[in-house]
Amino acid sequence: MVTPYQIRVFGDPVLRKVATEVTEIDGKLAKLADEMFETMYAEPGIGLAAPQVGVQRRFFVYDVGEGPEVLINPVIEESVGEWTYEEGCLSVPGLFWEIVRPKEVHITGRDLDGNEISIEADELLARLFQHELDHLDGILLLDRLDTVTRKEAMKSVRERFIDLQPGESLPNGQKASGGLTLP
Ligand code: NI
Repeated sequence: MVTPYQIRVFGDPVLRKVATEVTEIDGKLAKLADEMFETMYAEPGIGLAAPQVGVQRRFFVYDVGEGPEVLINPVIEESVGEWTYEEGCLSVPGLFWEIVRPKEVHITGRDLDGNEISIEADELLARLFQHELDHLDGILLLDRLDTVTRKEAMKSVRERFIDLQPGESLPNGQKASGGLTLP
């Protein structure tokens, strides 16, 4: 399927950079968000952060079944509790791990009209917010695993994304560029 963007996958350095604040909420940003929704729904996924399409800006789009939403310059104000959930990522396609994170978060930010947003989220939505915010800080879900699990996980990732020859297919159908190096 042709989507506006190819989602960047593990090994792409853009996924390891800290994104900068959005300074202008304008039509250009709205258009980019629309294209990110199209890309996300095609996967399908429930969240997509700007760095995953190569844009180093602090915002993400999401839809947990209640319609499309955009959160710009998000900040987690408070985290409570602990919750284990099997997490995946469109940038590490086909692999899932049980990850422990806070169960509830209070997140603030802005919407596409520039309005201040404040959301108290629990379980899945709270998980999504933490996962997408990590992307804005160059953090991938693998970094949230304990040392032993991470070692195993890196083996799977290496097999899927690193030890590929140029032209071989990645799990999401993209062609490997070959010679990817571990961060
Ligand atoms: Ni992700």
